[in-house]
Amino acid sequence: MFLQLGSLLAALLFALPAVADTKEDANLLGLPALKVPANNPITPERVTLGQRLYNDTRFSSTGKISCATCHEPNKGFTDRLAVSKGVNGLTGTRSSPTVANAAFSTTQFWDGRSPDLEDQALHPFTNPVEMGLANHEPILKTIREDKAYVDAFKKTFNLEPNDIKIQHVTQAIATFERTQLFGGSKFDRWYYGGENTLNAAEKRGFQAFIGNGRCVSCHVIEQTQALFTDNKFHNIGVGINKMKQADIDRLSKEYLRAQYDQNEVDKKALTDEKSSELGRFAVTRYIFEMGGFKTPTLRNIDLTAPYMHDGSLKTLDEVVEHYNLGGASNPKEVINPYLSGGIRPLNLTAQEKKDLVAFMKALSSPKLVAKK
Ligand code: HEC
Ligand code: HEC
Repeated sequence: MFLQLGSLLAALLFALPAVADTKEDANLLGLPALKVPANNPITPERVTLGQRLYNDTRFSSTGKISCATCHEPNKGFTDRLAVSKGVNGLTGTRSSPTVANAAFSTTQFWDGRSPDLEDQALHPFTNPVEMGLANHEPILKTIREDKAYVDAFKKTFNLEPNDIKIQHVTQAIATFERTQLFGGSKFDRWYYGGENTLNAAEKRGFQAFIGNGRCVSCHVIEQTQALFTDNKFHNIGVGINKMKQADIDRLSKEYLRAQYDQNEVDKKALTDEKSSELGRFAVTRYIFEMGGFKTPTLRNIDLTAPYMHDGSLKTLDEVVEHYNLGGASNPKEVINPYLSGGIRPLNLTAQEKKDLVAFMKALSSPKLVAKK
Protein backbone atom coordinates (compact mmCIF):
# COMPACT_ATOMS: atom_id res chain seq x y z
CA MET A 1 0.00 0.00 0.00
CA PHE A 2 2.71 2.42 1.08
CA LEU A 3 4.82 1.44 -1.87
CA GLN A 4 1.96 2.09 -4.27
CA LEU A 5 1.24 5.46 -2.71
CA GLY A 6 4.94 6.25 -2.94
CA SER A 7 5.15 5.49 -6.62
CA LEU A 8 1.94 7.39 -7.29
CA LEU A 9 3.45 10.40 -5.56
CA ALA A 10 6.68 9.97 -7.49
CA ALA A 11 4.74 9.81 -10.75
CA LEU A 12 2.90 13.00 -9.85
CA LEU A 13 6.12 14.76 -8.91
CA PHE A 14 7.79 13.70 -12.11
CA ALA A 15 4.80 14.95 -14.07
CA LEU A 16 5.01 18.41 -12.52
CA PRO A 17 7.75 20.30 -14.41
CA ALA A 18 5.86 21.05 -17.60
CA VAL A 19 8.88 22.55 -19.32
CA ALA A 20 11.33 19.69 -18.64
CA ASP A 21 14.19 19.65 -21.11
CA THR A 22 13.70 16.23 -22.67
CA LYS A 23 17.16 16.22 -24.26
CA GLU A 24 18.80 16.83 -20.88
CA ASP A 25 16.51 14.22 -19.26
CA ALA A 26 17.70 11.67 -21.82
CA ASN A 27 21.31 12.55 -20.96
CA LEU A 28 20.63 11.87 -17.28
CA LEU A 29 18.93 8.49 -17.81
CA GLY A 30 20.50 5.90 -15.47
CA LEU A 31 21.98 8.42 -13.03
CA PRO A 32 20.77 8.84 -9.44
CA ALA A 33 19.49 12.11 -7.99
CA LEU A 34 22.35 14.45 -7.17
CA LYS A 35 23.02 15.53 -3.59
CA VAL A 36 24.00 19.19 -3.37
CA PRO A 37 25.49 20.66 -0.16
CA ALA A 38 23.06 23.07 1.52
CA ASN A 39 25.72 25.78 1.72
CA ASN A 40 26.61 25.60 -1.98
CA PRO A 41 23.44 25.57 -4.08
CA ILE A 42 23.71 25.24 -7.86
CA THR A 43 22.98 28.60 -9.47
CA PRO A 44 23.67 29.61 -13.08
CA GLU A 45 26.11 32.29 -11.80
CA ARG A 46 28.13 29.73 -9.80
CA VAL A 47 28.30 27.37 -12.79
CA THR A 48 29.55 30.06 -15.18
CA LEU A 49 32.09 31.41 -12.70
CA GLY A 50 33.22 27.88 -11.82
CA GLN A 51 33.75 27.00 -15.46
CA ARG A 52 35.93 30.07 -15.96
CA LEU A 53 38.03 29.28 -12.86
CA TYR A 54 38.33 25.63 -13.97
CA ASN A 55 39.85 26.76 -17.27
CA ASP A 56 42.12 29.54 -15.96
CA THR A 57 45.80 28.70 -16.42
CA ARG A 58 46.93 31.73 -14.39
CA PHE A 59 46.35 29.80 -11.16
CA SER A 60 49.57 27.80 -11.61
CA SER A 61 53.20 28.70 -10.97
CA THR A 62 53.99 28.70 -14.71
CA GLY A 63 50.72 30.24 -15.88
CA LYS A 64 50.20 27.26 -18.16
CA ILE A 65 48.21 24.67 -16.20
CA SER A 66 44.51 24.73 -15.36
CA CYS A 67 42.17 22.07 -14.01
CA ALA A 68 41.12 21.47 -17.60
CA THR A 69 44.70 20.63 -18.62
CA CYS A 70 44.39 17.28 -16.82
CA HIS A 71 40.59 16.96 -16.93
CA GLU A 72 39.79 17.97 -20.51
CA PRO A 73 36.11 17.85 -21.47
CA ASN A 74 37.05 16.62 -24.96
CA LYS A 75 39.08 13.72 -23.51
CA GLY A 76 36.31 12.38 -21.31
CA PHE A 77 37.44 14.87 -18.64
CA THR A 78 40.88 13.23 -18.31
CA ASP A 79 44.27 13.84 -19.98
CA ARG A 80 44.55 10.32 -21.46
CA LEU A 81 48.05 10.00 -20.00
CA ALA A 82 49.26 7.15 -17.81
CA VAL A 83 50.26 9.67 -15.16
CA SER A 84 49.45 13.37 -15.26
CA LYS A 85 51.83 16.16 -16.25
CA GLY A 86 51.76 19.40 -14.28
CA VAL A 87 53.93 22.53 -14.13
CA ASN A 88 57.29 22.39 -15.93
CA GLY A 89 56.40 18.99 -17.37
CA LEU A 90 56.67 17.37 -13.94
CA THR A 91 54.92 14.02 -13.80
CA GLY A 92 52.99 12.66 -10.86
CA THR A 93 52.41 9.04 -9.89
CA ARG A 94 48.73 8.69 -10.68
CA SER A 95 46.38 8.77 -13.63
CA SER A 96 43.87 11.59 -13.85
CA PRO A 97 40.38 10.25 -13.04
CA THR A 98 37.42 11.66 -14.92
CA VAL A 99 35.58 14.64 -13.50
CA ALA A 100 32.43 13.54 -15.37
CA ASN A 101 29.97 12.27 -12.73
CA ALA A 102 32.58 12.79 -9.95
CA ALA A 103 29.79 14.72 -8.21
CA PHE A 104 28.20 11.38 -7.27
CA SER A 105 31.28 10.01 -5.47
CA THR A 106 31.16 9.80 -1.69
CA THR A 107 34.91 10.51 -1.53
CA GLN A 108 37.34 12.16 -3.96
CA PHE A 109 40.77 10.93 -5.20
CA TRP A 110 41.84 7.33 -5.85
CA ASP A 111 42.43 6.88 -2.13
CA GLY A 112 39.40 8.94 -1.01
CA ARG A 113 41.54 11.34 1.00
CA SER A 114 39.14 14.18 0.24
CA PRO A 115 35.49 14.19 1.39
CA ASP A 116 33.92 16.31 -1.37
CA LEU A 117 34.46 18.40 -4.49
CA GLU A 118 34.91 21.63 -2.54
CA ASP A 119 37.76 20.19 -0.45
CA GLN A 120 39.26 18.35 -3.43
CA ALA A 121 39.62 21.55 -5.45
CA LEU A 122 41.89 23.10 -2.81
CA HIS A 123 44.70 20.61 -3.41
CA PRO A 124 45.84 20.69 -7.08
CA PHE A 125 46.73 24.41 -6.83
CA THR A 126 49.46 23.74 -4.28
CA ASN A 127 50.55 20.26 -5.25
CA PRO A 128 54.16 20.61 -6.47
CA VAL A 129 53.63 18.37 -9.52
CA GLU A 130 50.24 19.81 -10.49
CA MET A 131 49.75 23.59 -10.40
CA GLY A 132 52.77 24.24 -8.17
CA LEU A 133 51.74 27.32 -6.16
CA ALA A 134 53.23 27.84 -2.68
CA ASN A 135 49.81 28.76 -1.27
CA HIS A 136 46.42 30.06 -2.44
CA GLU A 137 47.25 33.79 -2.15
CA PRO A 138 48.34 34.31 -5.80
CA ILE A 139 44.93 33.02 -6.93
CA LEU A 140 43.07 35.56 -4.80
CA LYS A 141 45.42 38.30 -5.97
CA THR A 142 44.78 37.51 -9.64
CA ILE A 143 41.03 37.44 -9.03
CA ARG A 144 40.96 40.73 -7.11
CA GLU A 145 42.85 42.45 -9.93
CA ASP A 146 40.63 41.12 -12.71
CA LYS A 147 37.53 43.25 -13.24
CA ALA A 148 35.53 40.45 -14.83
CA TYR A 149 36.19 38.21 -11.81
CA VAL A 150 35.46 41.04 -9.35
CA ASP A 151 32.10 41.60 -11.04
CA ALA A 152 31.35 37.88 -11.16
CA PHE A 153 32.14 37.31 -7.47
CA LYS A 154 29.97 40.32 -6.59
CA LYS A 155 27.09 38.97 -8.67
CA THR A 156 27.52 35.37 -7.53
CA PHE A 157 28.42 35.64 -3.84
CA ASN A 158 27.75 39.36 -3.19
CA LEU A 159 31.37 39.84 -2.10
CA GLU A 160 33.71 42.81 -2.17
CA PRO A 161 37.16 41.94 -3.61
CA ASN A 162 38.90 41.74 -0.24
CA ASP A 163 36.27 39.37 1.13
CA ILE A 164 36.82 36.77 -1.61
CA LYS A 165 38.32 33.64 -0.05
CA ILE A 166 39.68 30.46 -1.60
CA GLN A 167 36.53 28.69 -0.31
CA HIS A 168 34.41 30.79 -2.70
CA VAL A 169 36.71 29.79 -5.53
CA THR A 170 36.39 26.09 -4.71
CA GLN A 171 32.61 26.40 -4.21
CA ALA A 172 32.25 27.79 -7.72
CA ILE A 173 34.52 25.13 -9.24
CA ALA A 174 32.64 22.36 -7.40
CA THR A 175 29.35 23.74 -8.69
CA PHE A 176 30.60 23.67 -12.27
CA GLU A 177 31.70 20.06 -11.73
CA ARG A 178 28.24 19.18 -10.32
CA THR A 179 26.75 20.06 -13.69
CA GLN A 180 29.05 17.71 -15.60
CA LEU A 181 26.71 14.70 -15.48
CA PHE A 182 26.72 12.13 -18.25
CA GLY A 183 24.30 9.20 -18.44
CA GLY A 184 21.96 8.19 -21.24
CA SER A 185 24.29 5.57 -22.73
CA LYS A 186 23.11 2.72 -24.96
CA PHE A 187 23.11 0.58 -21.82
CA ASP A 188 20.87 3.07 -19.97
CA ARG A 189 18.38 3.24 -22.82
CA TRP A 190 18.23 -0.57 -22.86
CA TYR A 191 18.22 -1.33 -19.13
CA TYR A 192 16.30 1.66 -17.79
CA GLY A 193 14.55 2.87 -20.94
CA GLY A 194 13.34 -0.44 -22.35
CA GLU A 195 14.73 0.34 -25.82
CA ASN A 196 16.48 -2.21 -27.99
CA THR A 197 19.79 -0.32 -28.14
CA LEU A 198 22.26 -3.12 -27.29
CA ASN A 199 23.46 -5.61 -29.90
CA ALA A 200 23.94 -9.31 -29.16
CA ALA A 201 27.61 -9.00 -28.11
CA GLU A 202 26.84 -6.13 -25.74
CA LYS A 203 23.98 -8.08 -24.18
CA ARG A 204 26.22 -11.14 -23.71
CA GLY A 205 28.82 -8.78 -22.22
CA PHE A 206 26.24 -7.59 -19.71
CA GLN A 207 25.57 -11.22 -18.75
CA ALA A 208 29.31 -11.80 -18.22
CA PHE A 209 29.53 -8.55 -16.25
CA ILE A 210 26.90 -9.67 -13.75
CA GLY A 211 27.72 -13.39 -14.07
CA ASN A 212 31.06 -15.14 -14.66
CA GLY A 213 33.05 -11.88 -14.58
CA ARG A 214 31.59 -10.89 -11.21
CA CYS A 215 32.34 -7.27 -12.09
CA VAL A 216 29.01 -6.03 -10.72
CA SER A 217 29.98 -6.89 -7.15
CA CYS A 218 32.16 -3.76 -7.12
CA HIS A 219 31.01 -1.87 -10.24
CA VAL A 220 27.43 -1.71 -8.99
CA ILE A 221 24.27 -1.59 -11.12
CA GLU A 222 21.05 -0.85 -9.22
CA GLN A 223 17.38 -1.17 -10.08
CA THR A 224 16.77 2.44 -11.07
CA GLN A 225 20.30 3.74 -11.63
CA ALA A 226 23.92 2.71 -11.99
CA LEU A 227 27.13 4.46 -11.02
CA PHE A 228 29.21 1.30 -11.62
CA THR A 229 30.96 1.81 -8.30
CA ASP A 230 30.42 0.73 -4.70
CA ASN A 231 32.37 3.82 -3.56
CA LYS A 232 34.64 1.44 -1.64
CA PHE A 233 38.35 0.66 -1.79
CA HIS A 234 39.88 -2.61 -2.97
CA ASN A 235 43.33 -3.94 -3.71
CA ILE A 236 42.88 -5.59 -7.09
CA GLY A 237 46.56 -6.29 -7.72
CA VAL A 238 47.56 -3.14 -9.60
CA GLY A 239 50.70 -1.26 -8.61
CA ILE A 240 51.25 -3.04 -5.31
CA ASN A 241 52.81 -5.87 -7.30
CA LYS A 242 55.71 -3.53 -8.13
CA MET A 243 56.52 -3.11 -4.42
CA LYS A 244 58.88 -5.19 -2.31
CA GLN A 245 57.45 -6.40 1.00
CA ALA A 246 60.38 -4.68 2.77
CA ASP A 247 59.30 -1.32 1.27
CA ILE A 248 55.73 -1.87 2.37
CA ASP A 249 56.87 -2.74 5.91
CA ARG A 250 59.17 0.27 6.16
CA LEU A 251 56.64 2.74 4.76
CA SER A 252 53.71 1.42 6.77
CA LYS A 253 55.73 1.89 9.97
CA GLU A 254 56.54 5.46 8.91
CA TYR A 255 52.90 6.25 8.21
CA LEU A 256 51.70 4.65 11.44
CA ARG A 257 54.16 6.74 13.45
CA ALA A 258 53.30 10.06 11.83
CA GLN A 259 50.32 12.25 12.74
CA TYR A 260 47.79 12.11 9.87
CA ASP A 261 48.16 15.19 7.69
CA GLN A 262 45.92 15.40 4.59
CA ASN A 263 48.20 17.88 2.80
CA GLU A 264 51.26 15.75 3.42
CA VAL A 265 49.49 12.64 2.12
CA ASP A 266 48.32 14.66 -0.91
CA LYS A 267 51.88 15.69 -1.72
CA LYS A 268 53.48 12.28 -1.10
CA ALA A 269 50.77 10.38 -2.99
CA LEU A 270 51.66 12.24 -6.18
CA THR A 271 55.41 12.77 -5.74
CA ASP A 272 56.64 9.52 -4.20
CA GLU A 273 55.99 6.43 -6.29
CA LYS A 274 56.18 4.04 -3.38
CA SER A 275 53.96 6.08 -1.07
CA SER A 276 51.44 6.28 -3.91
CA GLU A 277 51.08 2.49 -3.95
CA LEU A 278 49.99 2.39 -0.31
CA GLY A 279 46.63 3.68 -1.58
CA ARG A 280 43.86 3.84 0.99
CA PHE A 281 46.23 2.69 3.75
CA ALA A 282 47.97 6.09 3.68
CA VAL A 283 44.63 7.67 4.62
CA THR A 284 43.09 5.26 7.14
CA ARG A 285 46.29 3.44 8.16
CA TYR A 286 44.40 0.15 8.36
CA ILE A 287 46.71 -2.61 7.17
CA PHE A 288 43.80 -4.35 5.42
CA GLU A 289 43.46 -1.31 3.14
CA MET A 290 47.07 -1.58 1.93
CA GLY A 291 47.15 -0.88 -1.81
CA GLY A 292 43.41 -0.32 -1.86
CA PHE A 293 42.01 2.14 -4.41
CA LYS A 294 38.53 3.51 -5.01
CA THR A 295 36.36 1.55 -7.42
CA PRO A 296 36.11 3.96 -10.36
CA THR A 297 32.92 4.44 -12.35
CA LEU A 298 32.87 2.63 -15.68
CA ARG A 299 30.63 5.20 -17.32
CA ASN A 300 32.38 6.70 -20.39
CA ILE A 301 35.29 4.31 -19.86
CA ASP A 302 35.87 3.98 -23.61
CA LEU A 303 36.90 7.67 -23.61
CA THR A 304 39.49 7.59 -20.81
CA ALA A 305 42.31 5.10 -21.54
CA PRO A 306 44.80 4.27 -20.13
CA TYR A 307 43.38 2.63 -17.04
CA MET A 308 43.89 2.12 -13.30
CA HIS A 309 45.31 4.49 -10.67
CA ASP A 310 48.77 4.23 -12.19
CA GLY A 311 47.64 4.15 -15.83
CA SER A 312 49.40 0.80 -16.21
CA LEU A 313 46.79 -0.94 -18.37
CA LYS A 314 46.48 0.51 -21.87
CA THR A 315 43.26 -1.02 -23.16
CA LEU A 316 40.01 -2.51 -21.93
CA ASP A 317 41.21 -5.88 -23.28
CA GLU A 318 44.23 -5.66 -20.96
CA VAL A 319 41.92 -4.79 -18.05
CA VAL A 320 39.74 -7.83 -18.67
CA GLU A 321 42.83 -10.05 -18.94
CA HIS A 322 44.07 -8.65 -15.62
CA TYR A 323 40.86 -9.75 -13.92
CA ASN A 324 40.81 -13.05 -15.77
CA LEU A 325 44.25 -13.86 -14.33
CA GLY A 326 43.01 -13.12 -10.83
CA GLY A 327 44.53 -9.68 -10.37
CA ALA A 328 48.03 -10.29 -11.60
CA SER A 329 48.70 -8.65 -14.95
CA ASN A 330 51.93 -10.63 -14.95
CA PRO A 331 51.32 -14.13 -13.53
CA LYS A 332 54.96 -14.43 -12.43
CA GLU A 333 54.58 -11.55 -10.01
CA VAL A 334 55.00 -11.93 -6.26
CA ILE A 335 52.06 -13.11 -4.21
CA ASN A 336 50.04 -10.13 -3.04
CA PRO A 337 48.80 -10.73 0.52
CA TYR A 338 46.52 -7.69 0.40
CA LEU A 339 44.53 -8.78 -2.67
CA SER A 340 40.74 -8.35 -2.34
CA GLY A 341 38.81 -11.56 -1.68
CA GLY A 342 36.65 -10.58 -4.67
CA ILE A 343 39.54 -11.04 -7.09
CA ARG A 344 40.43 -14.56 -8.28
CA PRO A 345 41.07 -16.24 -11.64
CA LEU A 346 37.90 -16.21 -13.74
CA ASN A 347 38.57 -18.68 -16.58
CA LEU A 348 36.60 -16.55 -19.02
CA THR A 349 36.29 -17.75 -22.61
CA ALA A 350 37.76 -15.64 -25.43
CA GLN A 351 34.18 -14.78 -26.42
CA GLU A 352 33.25 -13.64 -22.90
CA LYS A 353 36.33 -11.41 -22.75
CA LYS A 354 35.45 -9.75 -26.07
CA ASP A 355 31.83 -9.33 -24.99
CA LEU A 356 32.83 -7.68 -21.70
CA VAL A 357 34.80 -5.08 -23.64
CA ALA A 358 31.86 -4.52 -26.02
CA PHE A 359 29.58 -4.03 -23.01
CA MET A 360 31.90 -1.46 -21.41
CA LYS A 361 32.03 0.47 -24.69
CA ALA A 362 28.21 0.75 -24.54
CA LEU A 363 28.47 2.83 -21.35
CA SER A 364 29.45 6.09 -23.09
CA SER A 365 27.16 9.08 -22.89
CA PRO A 366 26.39 10.51 -26.37
CA LYS A 367 26.71 13.99 -24.88
CA LEU A 368 30.30 13.29 -23.83
CA VAL A 369 31.17 11.39 -27.02
CA ALA A 370 30.03 14.49 -28.92
CA LYS A 371 32.79 16.53 -27.23
CA LYS A 372 35.48 14.08 -28.34
C1 HEC B 1 48.56 18.01 -13.39
C2 HEC B 1 47.30 17.38 -13.62
C3 HEC B 1 46.12 17.80 -12.79
C4 HEC B 1 45.63 19.07 -12.55
C5 HEC B 1 46.21 20.38 -13.00
C6 HEC B 1 44.42 18.89 -11.80
N1 HEC B 1 44.17 17.57 -11.59
FE1 HEC B 1 42.54 16.78 -10.71
N2 HEC B 1 43.47 15.01 -10.63
C7 HEC B 1 44.67 14.69 -11.22
C8 HEC B 1 45.12 13.40 -10.75
C9 HEC B 1 46.38 12.69 -11.16
C10 HEC B 1 44.15 12.97 -9.82
C11 HEC B 1 44.20 11.68 -9.00
C12 HEC B 1 45.10 11.94 -7.80
C13 HEC B 1 44.90 10.95 -6.69
O1 HEC B 1 43.89 10.27 -6.68
O2 HEC B 1 45.75 10.86 -5.81
C14 HEC B 1 43.10 13.99 -9.80
C15 HEC B 1 41.91 13.88 -9.08
C16 HEC B 1 40.86 14.78 -9.22
C17 HEC B 1 39.51 14.57 -8.75
C18 HEC B 1 38.99 13.33 -8.04
C19 HEC B 1 38.16 12.47 -8.96
C20 HEC B 1 37.85 11.12 -8.39
O3 HEC B 1 37.19 10.34 -9.07
O4 HEC B 1 38.27 10.80 -7.27
C21 HEC B 1 38.79 15.70 -9.06
C22 HEC B 1 37.33 15.96 -8.79
C23 HEC B 1 39.71 16.62 -9.68
N3 HEC B 1 40.95 16.03 -9.79
C24 HEC B 1 39.41 17.91 -10.07
C25 HEC B 1 40.41 18.86 -10.33
C26 HEC B 1 40.22 20.30 -10.26
C27 HEC B 1 38.93 20.99 -9.88
C28 HEC B 1 41.41 20.87 -10.59
C29 HEC B 1 41.79 22.32 -10.62
C30 HEC B 1 41.65 23.05 -9.37
C31 HEC B 1 42.33 19.77 -10.89
N4 HEC B 1 41.69 18.58 -10.70
C32 HEC B 1 43.62 19.93 -11.36
C33 HEC B 1 45.34 15.48 -12.11
C34 HEC B 1 45.20 16.86 -12.15
C1 HEC C 1 36.76 -6.38 -5.87
C2 HEC C 1 36.17 -5.27 -6.58
C3 HEC C 1 36.24 -5.24 -8.09
C4 HEC C 1 35.82 -6.19 -8.99
C5 HEC C 1 35.24 -7.57 -8.70
C6 HEC C 1 36.06 -5.64 -10.30
N1 HEC C 1 36.59 -4.39 -10.19
FE1 HEC C 1 37.16 -3.20 -11.73
N2 HEC C 1 38.05 -1.93 -10.43
C7 HEC C 1 38.03 -2.04 -9.05
C8 HEC C 1 38.96 -1.12 -8.48
C9 HEC C 1 39.22 -0.92 -6.99
C10 HEC C 1 39.59 -0.46 -9.54
C11 HEC C 1 40.74 0.56 -9.46
C12 HEC C 1 41.99 -0.23 -9.08
C13 HEC C 1 43.31 0.51 -9.15
O1 HEC C 1 43.46 1.46 -9.90
O2 HEC C 1 44.23 0.06 -8.44
C14 HEC C 1 38.97 -0.98 -10.75
C15 HEC C 1 39.26 -0.54 -12.04
C16 HEC C 1 38.63 -0.98 -13.19
C17 HEC C 1 38.79 -0.40 -14.50
C18 HEC C 1 39.65 0.83 -14.84
C19 HEC C 1 38.87 2.10 -14.61
C20 HEC C 1 39.66 3.37 -14.80
O3 HEC C 1 39.03 4.44 -14.83
O4 HEC C 1 40.88 3.33 -14.88
C21 HEC C 1 38.00 -1.10 -15.36
C22 HEC C 1 37.82 -0.85 -16.84
C23 HEC C 1 37.38 -2.15 -14.60
N3 HEC C 1 37.77 -2.04 -13.28
C24 HEC C 1 36.52 -3.12 -15.11
C25 HEC C 1 36.16 -4.27 -14.40
C26 HEC C 1 35.59 -5.45 -14.99
C27 HEC C 1 35.31 -5.62 -16.47
C28 HEC C 1 35.42 -6.35 -13.99
C29 HEC C 1 34.95 -7.79 -14.09
C30 HEC C 1 35.73 -8.64 -14.97
C31 HEC C 1 35.84 -5.72 -12.75
N4 HEC C 1 36.29 -4.45 -13.05
C32 HEC C 1 35.78 -6.31 -11.50
C33 HEC C 1 37.24 -2.93 -8.34
C34 HEC C 1 36.74 -4.10 -8.86
